[in-house]
Amino acid sequence: MRVGVLTGGRDCPGLNAVVRAVVRKGAQEYGIEFVGFVDGWRGPLEGETVPLDIPAVRGTLPRGGTILGSSRTDPLRQPDGVRRIRDNLAKHEVGALITIGGRDTLRTAARLAADHGLPCVAVPKTIDNDVPGTDCTLGFDTAVGVATEAIDRLHTTAESHKRVLVVEVMGGETGWIALRSGLAGGANVVLIPEQPFDMDQVCAWVTSRFRASYAPIVVVADGAVPRDGSVALGPRPGSGAGAARLSGVGEWLAGEIERRTGKEARTTVLGHVQRGGSPSAFDRWLATRFGLHAVDAAHEGDFGTMVALRGTDIVRVPLAEATGPLKSVDPRLYAEAGVFFG
Ligand code: F6P
Repeated sequence: MRVGVLTGGRDCPGLNAVVRAVVRKGAQEYGIEFVGFVDGWRGPLEGETVPLDIPAVRGTLPRGGTILGSSRTDPLRQPDGVRRIRDNLAKHEVGALITIGGRDTLRTAARLAADHGLPCVAVPKTIDNDVPGTDCTLGFDTAVGVATEAIDRLHTTAESHKRVLVVEVMGGETGWIALRSGLAGGANVVLIPEQPFDMDQVCAWVTSRFRASYAPIVVVADGAVPRDGSVALGPRPGSGAGAARLSGVGEWLAGEIERRTGKEARTTVLGHVQRGGSPSAFDRWLATRFGLHAVDAAHEGDFGTMVALRGTDIVRVPLAEATGPLKSVDPRLYAEAGVFFG
């Protein structure tokens, strides 16, 4: 049996660890040969491949990025996309395709499996943790770790200079990274896209923190927006199909806080350091187990499924589950953190 592997969408730490586990178990236990498709869906669409065997994945467990490359190519928007993928899978004698991706990549895999009978098995990844059907996505834990360490460091310099320090973290349309790192790092304000924020309330929290003789740390997700919509924030047009570029809210927020409270405020935008570099121990563990279970599913011909974390178990769920509404932060979780605000 030959199995194709691709990594699609925006990268995250742990992708290589999935590929390594897939190849190690597949080759050793099932005698599977692998084909690496490059740059996400562009690979099977254009028939571009790289050799993928045990030597190719050696040493990649702790390595960030993806040895297969990635892109946000959507084959369903390409003329003849499905036929070209089908032809290229046949040309390389690929009988199963393991697709490692976020919501866009998984939606495409789900449609290719359900509507066109292509043999897809999926693995959920994204630092945003917004894929439904799994307790956690690959890459999220590493991003939270990077953000938490940054918040820890910012506390001491904020105190020294009695400044407000705003930290803009990633997260896209959800506030998982902001909330988890904000709680772990002891932030005094956490702002997430699911709960449009009230500038008066933010300033009240900032002021009360100064009254307690401490300098505030404000964590804001890149997709967060003010409740009154007084500024045109949110997605800006990005490059490539379906790309929306966020970022900018942190800088705006610091300006507003400074103007309204008279306290000096600065912004740190963490950006892509949250996505780059070595995966955390948890993400290496999760990636490895996702990979082992994904290759089992491919070997058994259990297509149209996604591996998922439920508690501490890895289970298989219908890929269609990943295409449901995005997994956003439960308002009760956000409310729970409120005791630390201000
Ligand atoms: O979806 C992952 C993510 O890193 C989001 O958290 C962030 O908003 C977005 O991608 C940034 O995308 P880009 O790398 O295209 O700027």
